[in-house]
Amino acid sequence: MLENYTLSTEKLNEIRTSVDIVDVISEYLPLTARGQNFFGVCPFHDDHSPSMSVNRDRQIYKCFSCGAGGNVFTFIRDYENITFMQAVQKVAAKTGIFVPISGVNEKTIQKQSKYHEMYEIATKFYINNLYTEEGLEAIAYLDNRKITKEARKEFEIGLSLKNSHLLTGLLEKKGFTEEEMLENGLAISKEGELRDSYFNRIMFPLFDLTGKPVGFSARIYRSNDASKYINTKETNFFKKGELLYHYHKAKNVSRMKDQVILVEGFMDVIRMFTVGIENVVASMGTSVTKEQLLLLKKMGKEIILLFDGDEAGRHAAYKTSSDLMKMGIYPKIVVLEDNLDPDEYILKYGKEKIEYKIAHPINTIDFKLEYLKENKNISSPLDKANYISSVIGELNQITDPILRETTLLKISEETSFDANIIRSQLVDIKDVVKEVKTLPKEKKETLKINRYQEAERRFLFYMLNHEEVIDIYQKKVQFLSTEKYRLLAREINYFYEEHGYIKEADFINVILEDADLLKTFHEITSLDLKDIYTKEEMDEYVDTIYEYKIVKQIDYLKSEQKLAIDQEKKKKLGDEILELKIELQKKELWEEL
Ligand code: CTP
Ligand code: MN
Repeated sequence: MLENYTLSTEKLNEIRTSVDIVDVISEYLPLTARGQNFFGVCPFHDDHSPSMSVNRDRQIYKCFSCGAGGNVFTFIRDYENITFMQAVQKVAAKTGIFVPISGVNEKTIQKQSKYHEMYEIATKFYINNLYTEEGLEAIAYLDNRKITKEARKEFEIGLSLKNSHLLTGLLEKKGFTEEEMLENGLAISKEGELRDSYFNRIMFPLFDLTGKPVGFSARIYRSNDASKYINTKETNFFKKGELLYHYHKAKNVSRMKDQVILVEGFMDVIRMFTVGIENVVASMGTSVTKEQLLLLKKMGKEIILLFDGDEAGRHAAYKTSSDLMKMGIYPKIVVLEDNLDPDEYILKYGKEKIEYKIAHPINTIDFKLEYLKENKNISSPLDKANYISSVIGELNQITDPILRETTLLKISEETSFDANIIRSQLVDIKDVVKEVKTLPKEKKETLKINRYQEAERRFLFYMLNHEEVIDIYQKKVQFLSTEKYRLLAREINYFYEEHGYIKEADFINVILEDADLLKTFHEITSLDLKDIYTKEEMDEYVDTIYEYKIVKQIDYLKSEQKLAIDQEKKKKLGDEILELKIELQKKELWEEL
């Protein structure tokens, strides 16, 4: 069945049940609970309202608009554009299950779980240090910066002590090798001697998207060391540009507010947290990467850039807005006065002031125009020409025709420059739109379903999640008249016979390579039915399926009768037809024919 997969179905099922599809999909896109299900904007087509539902009981997702659907593996496969096995691997890695797949080695998985183990140990170790004698000064520093006890706890802030052999010593005692410590960035080798990577610094753990510590940012607090922060080197499991500080905690709040605030420094996140603003993540220095922008996009519809108030911060906001606009997103921008960063701003002006600012952000276009105008004197011809030509660059990026035109008119008025000349310099919107990647909308096939087939479909729907319905199938039904449904029923039976249970989220794994079966499967799982059936409903399905068998049989006999030349045979067929009709009549359904 799954020739190129070396994993048994049992193993696949074990891996799948080790995670909850709702949690996993939440890592990729915001989901909102509505009734029994969770809903989100479908990532598999150009969706604007939440068309994708995720069902916790059934452990499947389904898009009612484009028809995409499946289990946790197919979601990751399709979302990340990787193979099915790579997706399995990813899920397995989340829970540390070893997956013996050719090509991907056991070593990577073991390394990864060791890595996490070491960082867990280090994080706890550093936290403990903070509450020792030597930690008093560090606590005083944090107090002085108004980093509360709650914030210390929330962000798992710790301390590395003066002695630079403590963590390495502890890890050695726990059985980790020097090589592992060096490779994982927790130790360095200095003049042939093994040493902790960090000492004498306040330790801020950096977490991966699922909330596991994978690195540190270590800040000086009493010396005047040249480097304010020392960060963990990039490792296989820590890539700073692929994470956002506080992501795992901010994502739920952001989803609820449908708004996410991006700041530059993690200190800003911590400060915002202390005044109760939690839908905040930090890019942690340098320029915001594409990966980080994609993460942001998934967190909420409204993206607010709250960068430092200095020139560097405004420049970064300008650059990040441009990158987001290329992705079709228009962020909002909050500009802080006095060159302050959000941390300093809040300390100086307080919670209400920053809340007000966040509630009244500037839109992307206005911000960019302001930024381009900075230090320019529009009445000077040279500055004016420079300004207009950079504005044309901006206009070219706007794909919304109305927004483009209104912006154009505004600039024309502001500079008293002929709108037509500006317009003549613009590229065609269509060419810009082409660059913004959209998936073609799949045509939805409309199926003609009669009431018999509807009963078969519903029966199959319940077969996919209830063993007792498969028993009913085996005892009372045995046959579905619609070929594609019959084939699916047969496959469900096989699965049940082999594994002793049924669960659609596992079953899908065995039919992935059969396009026809998969299509039928999607048709069935898309039915909008309750997860639980009543006995009456089930009896009705069984009856209707049976009637359909007879109806089909009558049809068949009728066509045979037409073809028959032999009068004897014609009569015999007629008798059989009559018998079947009586059978149907007994079911009081004569009028249906
Ligand atoms: N950063 C870094 N190394 C540095 C300086 C900064 O890695 N030498 C990163 C940190 O992740 C920091 C972010 O860039 O969070 C923003 O830098 P900065 O604005 O200088 O830090 P602050 O958040 O203002 O930190 P603090 O208030 O403690 O000075
Ligand atoms: Mn600061």
